[in-house]
Amino acid sequence: MGPGEQPEYSAPLRRERLIVVSNRLPFRFRRDDQGQWRADPAGGGLVTALLPVLRHRGGMWIGWTGAVGEDPELATALDAVGKGAGYALKSVPLSEEEVHNFYFGFANEIIWPLFHDLQSLCNFEPEYWRTYCEVNIRFADVVRSNAEPGDFIWVHDYHLMSLAAELRRAGVKSRIGFFLHIPFPPLDLFLKLPWRMALLRALLEYDVIGFQTLRDRRNFVQCVRALVKGAEFEGRGHVLLASVPGRMLRVGSFPISIDYNAFMRQAATSEVAERARELHRLLPNRKLILGVDRLDYTKGIPLRLRAFESLLTRYPELRERVSLIQVVVPSREEIPEYRELKTQIEQQVGKINGSFVRPGGWVPVWYVYRSLARLDLLAYYRAADVALVTPFKDGMNLVAKEYCACSIEEDCALILSEFAGAAPQLARGALLVNPYDIEGVADAIHRAYHMDKGERQARMRRMRRSIREYDVFWWVDSFLRAAITKDLRAFPQPDSYAGEVVEDLPVLF
Ligand code: ADP
Ligand code: G6P
Repeated sequence: MGPGEQPEYSAPLRRERLIVVSNRLPFRFRRDDQGQWRADPAGGGLVTALLPVLRHRGGMWIGWTGAVGEDPELATALDAVGKGAGYALKSVPLSEEEVHNFYFGFANEIIWPLFHDLQSLCNFEPEYWRTYCEVNIRFADVVRSNAEPGDFIWVHDYHLMSLAAELRRAGVKSRIGFFLHIPFPPLDLFLKLPWRMALLRALLEYDVIGFQTLRDRRNFVQCVRALVKGAEFEGRGHVLLASVPGRMLRVGSFPISIDYNAFMRQAATSEVAERARELHRLLPNRKLILGVDRLDYTKGIPLRLRAFESLLTRYPELRERVSLIQVVVPSREEIPEYRELKTQIEQQVGKINGSFVRPGGWVPVWYVYRSLARLDLLAYYRAADVALVTPFKDGMNLVAKEYCACSIEEDCALILSEFAGAAPQLARGALLVNPYDIEGVADAIHRAYHMDKGERQARMRRMRRSIREYDVFWWVDSFLRAAITKDLRAFPQPDSYAGEVVEDLPVLF
């Protein structure tokens, strides 16, 4: 179905209240120097994608504030922020130990690395699992005391995979959907998880499960087939009907996206244009290459820096003609791997700049380590001639889509990892690279540098068209439609879905 077309289900959907549940609320609360609670915008793809959905539809968002413990003043601050936002905000308080074992521990030291194919970084600590189960029960209590019959409860991401099971145990009958923002691993990796059966059974308590790509959905189906006796799947499109002992559910792929029009409109403002021009004034007579990432080992920043170094070494004529702006957003700083990564990146930037810098002039790498205001981020997107998005593995990667949306002149290039969830959709416009291939990435930058304007624009136009068509509102509609449509056989199941060919393996492999 194309954008703007009204699906037949839209009337019942409009009546239902949407309750979004995720670990991360869209604001992080912290006390300022005067002891007052302050709400800063939270980062990451989940919040970026869901914010416009909640603003558009209203409803309720339940999650953790980012603060430790309970505090009546925090509840008041949360209410006030919720009133201004146009949807209700409810918090699930976490103690220091829970933050440690559940958020940093189970979610980010086990599931995050395992689901990103980095098993060697997993810390399979049994206490983490126990706390994960307890915290999922706590989330279930808060959902139960806020939800009414008929609400659609939509749970997000790997922190809350057991939530539906806990809600069912407590007698909740509402429809419950789950969307996984990160990849789902292949069977041989999933099998490493000591709690694989409990987790898989818990997931099967949802009514609909959404994955980012067909590959993730296939991995999930493969795990269920291997581990759950009697499981069967029916259907050929992007949404399958699953039957497991005792219940039926739907399993689909729904590539997440952005509010394309909002990004495009804001990027077109004179304020953003002026900031982008200012960047070119500061870094004149060269092409700007941009990397924007949360500080995370899945994003492939050290190898990207190696690729940039290789470019300057193997193509010396590009020295002084390019600069890399690498923006890194602080993230999960309590986890040792994240701290070590920060040191590693800083050392690499120092080494490259030390080797190639021209005194009084060109600096090869501009390194920015902080969260940026939205307009500044958009100015970076608008100013950049090339975006370098090279994760080792990524659920989707919204930075790639935001960059395209903000590239109003369409005169720029996107270099994109084959292993980002966005790759199948953007394959016809981006220069796809293997992020482990240092010289291959350097060659792609060289190619982007020399690409003629006609090709740059044609590629960018193709990607922008797809992102505009399959925006975040399309995503939410497709998911809810899959959840609510009574007869899945009558559900439109196109051969190609947001750029992915449903029947064959995804375009790349
Ligand atoms: P992930 O969810 O793993 O962090 P994504 O690329 O999907 O990766 O999403 C990152 C989100 O964080 C994007 O929506 C992007 O706009 C936002 N973001 C990235 N860098 C910054 C920054 N420096 N300041 C503020 N927001 C940022
Ligand atoms: C990824 C995850 C989100 C998470 C975000 C930021 O996008 O899929 O669930 O919110 O990273 O990470 P954080 O740990 O700060 O919530």
